[in-house]
Amino acid sequence: MNPIKITDTSLRDGHQSLWATRMTTSDMLPILGKIDEVGYHSLEVWGGATFDVCIRYLNEDPWERLRTIRGIVKKTPLQMLLRGQSLVGYTHYPDDIVEKFVEKAALNGIDIFRVFDALNDVRNLEVPLKAIKATGKHAQASVVYTISPVHTLNHFVDTALRLRDMGADSICIKDMAGLLSPYVAYDLVKLLKANLDVPIQLHTHYIGGLAMAALIKAAEAGVDIIDTASVPMAFGSSQPPVETIVRALQDSERDTGLDLHKLFEIANHFEQLRKHKGFERGVTRISDMRVFEHQVPGGMISNLMSQMEEQKASDRIDEVLEEIPRVRQDLGYPPLVTPTSQIIGIQAVLNVLMGERYKLCPGEVKDYVRGLYGKPPAPIKEEIRRKIIGDEQVVTVRPADLLDPMWEKARQESAHYARSEEDILTYALFPQVALKYFAWRESKGHQDIPQIQTHDEVSAEPKKEEPRITRQPVNRVSNKASYRGDDEMNIDEIRELILLLDQTSISELEVQKNDYRLALRKNRASVNVPGETIPETSGSAPKQEVASSIVAGNLVEVTAPMVGTFYAAPSPDAPPYVQVGDKVQAGQTLCIVEAMKLMNEIKAETDGVVTDIMVDNAQPVEYGQVLMLIEKL
Ligand code: CO
Repeated sequence: MNPIKITDTSLRDGHQSLWATRMTTSDMLPILGKIDEVGYHSLEVWGGATFDVCIRYLNEDPWERLRTIRGIVKKTPLQMLLRGQSLVGYTHYPDDIVEKFVEKAALNGIDIFRVFDALNDVRNLEVPLKAIKATGKHAQASVVYTISPVHTLNHFVDTALRLRDMGADSICIKDMAGLLSPYVAYDLVKLLKANLDVPIQLHTHYIGGLAMAALIKAAEAGVDIIDTASVPMAFGSSQPPVETIVRALQDSERDTGLDLHKLFEIANHFEQLRKHKGFERGVTRISDMRVFEHQVPGGMISNLMSQMEEQKASDRIDEVLEEIPRVRQDLGYPPLVTPTSQIIGIQAVLNVLMGERYKLCPGEVKDYVRGLYGKPPAPIKEEIRRKIIGDEQVVTVRPADLLDPMWEKARQESAHYARSEEDILTYALFPQVALKYFAWRESKGHQDIPQIQTHDEVSAEPKKEEPRITRQPVNRVSNKASYRGDDEMNIDEIRELILLLDQTSISELEVQKNDYRLALRKNRASVNVPGETIPETSGSAPKQEVASSIVAGNLVEVTAPMVGTFYAAPSPDAPPYVQVGDKVQAGQTLCIVEAMKLMNEIKAETDGVVTDIMVDNAQPVEYGQVLMLIEKL
């Protein structure tokens, strides 16, 4: 057998799984040249969550990142993860956007496209695969691995054969939750090798530790390529470490031929970065290993934890993990991978938080049930479908057939800010986030990024000794700022920050330390520490009282069911759902609260007239915060 080839995932899945995708391009730059020298089969550097995180949290242009990497990495093919018709987002996009995105990704430097559909509904891969083939680049199609009564080895082989017939140049077994056990891996690879004449790649996650053995057994069965990460970004919910695999296969017929010394030099760079930024090491907690019970994949566990913290319900995470398999069964056993992991995850969270199952269903859950993500692997339970969408028709066509072309519209809407076709795509994918990013980019052009330590802004304050918090730059998005660091902070420093905040033009500051998140707003501050809540710290500005309980007579409060962002309209250019003075009917949509990356429509519980809207569009809202008042009729 040939040497096994290795795809390095450090720059995409590695930090997405362990560091919330927060590695910046400048974190990568110093080590790219060395990585290029290793002799990897490919480097996974783009796609998945990296695109979204670049514009949402890092103030980076993802396209620019790709071009920068391409400029340095000359020898090794660059690979991206494409979520089928959802590209790098969470919803299906029209075909014209899919085609344009793939074309641009190829032009900017992607050589290998790994594409998957969360439901293994191959119809959703038709257009992406065709678009990839049109660029002349390598099209790798994935078979998403999961465990359920309907996911038999035959199902996987069958899916792989259909993908090969659709033009896939190679097949990836995508085990995003680390569920593939060694002997199943062996059988599956053997079967795929016997039935297909294209290379087979195995992508798995370490999580409960099965991955090491699964990779070795897959190597024995003849797998062509496997995925690993540099050790500081390996283990835990990420991939197994490349160093161990290289050593394990040394002197075998599958010897990778990679140089361990070079790999440790690279590991050293990432380890320094990890320590400097306070990023986590990949560890397996018992709760993580419960993946064998609940199948919740790597990235999703940490997201769920922080979402439950945000909702001030961290103590109920176990209930959520138990609810997930029930929701999954109700909804036809979708594999838990983006976007179905978010769909199942948020529904489980809501079922637990609301105290009644399927009382609140986000639009994405409804769309899933309507068939707009594709065909679920097994039928959705009849009574659950009724509870979620009533008598609505379920679609049976390829979902994107129902979508109107969007390119021209996106081009016009983003004309003021977009500087390139890539920008138009960014806007088409994440309109609200993109506009915020573009505005920030514009403002950056004629003013320096204001940093919290700029004492000039604090003119009234006598200069004091710099608090430790000011050592690291603050990233600023318009009037919002964020800070991440590993310094200790005490309550006095937090007070100081609030004071600074009051005297600058910055209205929001998010501070993250390993375990806690501090959200400061001009007139509100709250600190979330796992296990305890530090009471609100008051700044010099008046605090806005939340959830006023004065509801006189016929007035009904509409409150936020979760922590999130309030949107008055379905999209930036659309009219608001309701305005003060509007008559509404029970069940009518009033607004959206975006939480956990999903749009949750908030409906009127009663007929009435909107008498007050208490939050601004795109304003962050707290759990229980009053959004509007409705006078009952
Ligand atoms: Co993965």
